[in-house]
Amino acid sequence: ASLAALDPVVPGPHRVQDRTLPAPAHSGEGFANTPDTDPAIAANRAWGSGILSRVPASEAGIATIEASRRADAASVDGVLRTASIAAQAWQALGAAGRAAVLHRAGDVLEARRAELLEVMAAEAGKTLDQSDPEVSEAIDFAHFYAERARELPGIDGARFHPHDVTVVTPPWNFPVAIPAGSTLAALATGSSVVIKPARATRRCGAVMVEALWEAGVPRDVLQLVQLDDPALGEHLIASPVVDHVILTGGYETAELFRSFRPDLPLSGETSGKNAIIVTPSADLDLAVKDVVNSAFGHAGQKCSAASLVILVGSVAASRRFRAQLVDAVRSLHVALPTDPESQMGPIIAAPTGKLLSGLTTLGEGETWLVKPAALPGSDALWSPGVRDGVRRGSEYHLTEYFGPILGIMTARSLEEAIAIQNEIDYGLTSGLHSLDADEIRTWLAGVEAGNLYVNRGITGAIVQRQPFGGWKKSVVGAGFKAGGPNYLLGLGRWTDSTGAG
Ligand code: SER
Repeated sequence: ASLAALDPVVPGPHRVQDRTLPAPAHSGEGFANTPDTDPAIAANRAWGSGILSRVPASEAGIATIEASRRADAASVDGVLRTASIAAQAWQALGAAGRAAVLHRAGDVLEARRAELLEVMAAEAGKTLDQSDPEVSEAIDFAHFYAERARELPGIDGARFHPHDVTVVTPPWNFPVAIPAGSTLAALATGSSVVIKPARATRRCGAVMVEALWEAGVPRDVLQLVQLDDPALGEHLIASPVVDHVILTGGYETAELFRSFRPDLPLSGETSGKNAIIVTPSADLDLAVKDVVNSAFGHAGQKCSAASLVILVGSVAASRRFRAQLVDAVRSLHVALPTDPESQMGPIIAAPTGKLLSGLTTLGEGETWLVKPAALPGSDALWSPGVRDGVRRGSEYHLTEYFGPILGIMTARSLEEAIAIQNEIDYGLTSGLHSLDADEIRTWLAGVEAGNLYVNRGITGAIVQRQPFGGWKKSVVGAGFKAGGPNYLLGLGRWTDSTGAG
């Protein structure tokens, strides 16, 4: 057995620190059927609802953005018509012209970093260790897609045709990097974009959009809508003017979108239920650190988060891993992002439904190693939970909770651990902690997930270095990975060089 260092060595771009990043949303979040009972969301409502794309540049700044009018079906149609017409000039600008604007967008996002951090803390409860790398990721997307777009027009005798109108529906958990990444990618190809930020993080979306406008993306080419009425969301998605929808969100949201329009050209990343396997050959200190960061960064609200750790053989049998894990989890400083020492912030809103039950009830045979508890200061602030004894086939094993809960499962062998993981319908990220090259090979060949990480945490994919995307029920559409060399290929139409489709 030998130590295999598997982090691919493509030089990392902008990022200066090890970070943890974007994941998908709660089911349906993109389409806002939830009542405004959460105070944070209610505050957003006061800030405005309607179609915001017509705010004059002089009024840029989230404090001064007002809804110019309340949205209705006719105004949604107007936005789409505008997008469709504006696409012509945007495409005529050419890849090099668009690349220049996108590079500028990266620079403006950098210049507005502090503002983005502030709004992410206020709206999404993001602590600085999470929000700062998220801004870096958005900047990386800008520079990366700007360059990739230059390669598009012809590949191997085939010709790329951009879409005219792309709708972007991002989640609230990465309220800057995911909307920015999807938007910048579509813009790079020559498409207009209509973005509908998640309801809970609409100001984050608005600041991101403003930054792109400031960089020179025309306001008709990039429009932002806030649709509080689900019927308008359906009207937007179902419109035949829409060429493509980029969704990051729950699997159920993708199904909902398809119910609006069965032939909808949809791509995106949907839901995850991810595990880290720890074998007896692992560096256990490192494994504990990576499991804790992956499970509880941004309070576990990442599609990429570790929701399970599967302990193999003697790691499962001995007390050591569990004892260290419990110590590490108990030592996390859980506080609102206004506390600069906070290592884990609040969840997006007071927990309800499935997440509440995950925080308060156990399945058969399970025990709390660390019992989660509501903390003072906010009804969304909960301490993290670790449940032991999760059984194969149980609800906790197979479903996504999207919060600060980690479950422990055990396996007699690595093969059994892989089988436990592959029983899950989703396949987004997966981790292995092992210093044995044979084990690493076995795992790489057998595990069903889009992003595989060895001896590292499983969140925080880095643009270009770790293209990000899922498998199985974690992906819809073409499946090209975000931040990877092929992502733009899935955002347009291809014909052969004669023009045949
Ligand atoms: N890209 C994010 C991550 O890697 C998830 O969206 O954590």
